[in-house]
Amino acid sequence: MANEQEKEAAGRAAAKLVRDGEVVGLGTGSTAYFAVVALGERVKAGLKMVGIPTSVQTGELARAVGIRLTTLDEHPEIDITIDGADEVDPKLNLIKGGGGALLREKVIATASKKMVVVADSGKIVSVLGKFPLPVEVISFARTVVEKKIVSLGASPKLRTQPDGSAYITDNGNQILDCSFGKIADPAALALTLSNTPGIVEHGLFIGLAKLALVGRGDRVEELRP
Ligand code: 5RP
Repeated sequence: MANEQEKEAAGRAAAKLVRDGEVVGLGTGSTAYFAVVALGERVKAGLKMVGIPTSVQTGELARAVGIRLTTLDEHPEIDITIDGADEVDPKLNLIKGGGGALLREKVIATASKKMVVVADSGKIVSVLGKFPLPVEVISFARTVVEKKIVSLGASPKLRTQPDGSAYITDNGNQILDCSFGKIADPAALALTLSNTPGIVEHGLFIGLAKLALVGRGDRVEELRP
């Protein structure tokens, strides 16, 4: 419950950063949810903005709360993106993808002038890697990618749905959740994964976030890299 309050406080604080006329990247997950809801409230109160969602789920939420949606084709440059994270390190390097939206999240974060992370205090770590790193793969390549990930010292596990079938992302791919333990050099690992054929995207977000708003008790802390 404390986490929920921290998430809501962080999400609402981030929604206040959006200015009239901006193109806003809308993140996915239970913390970004609060930012989208708060933005919907601001839109009802007169804020002019358009949103680009990072997932089908967030698109549905945004529409339901009255946010007008646009696309990257119409707006290839995003003013500000607000998104959650599974882990945040002191340089604001992130692990993302717990909600399965890592590919669109990274495209949108990369197309943004500013990425603001919203998180509860439990997401802050000194070293990334306790949370299994989500890696999105094309199903054709899954076995060879699994072998590669094992050779890098991690154990990959295919993400499944409650009925046991493979979880499928909004982009039609599968996800391997890879337990690396402490990731000593996230930038190097990110590069290795990005250079592996069959991996569509991975959840290491290196140097993308410029501000993190972290709910801690009844306060919201601002962290910068
Ligand atoms: C979705 C994500 C989420 O932002 C991340 O999993 C954090 O989610 P939550 O705010 O629910 O803890 O990366 O792909």
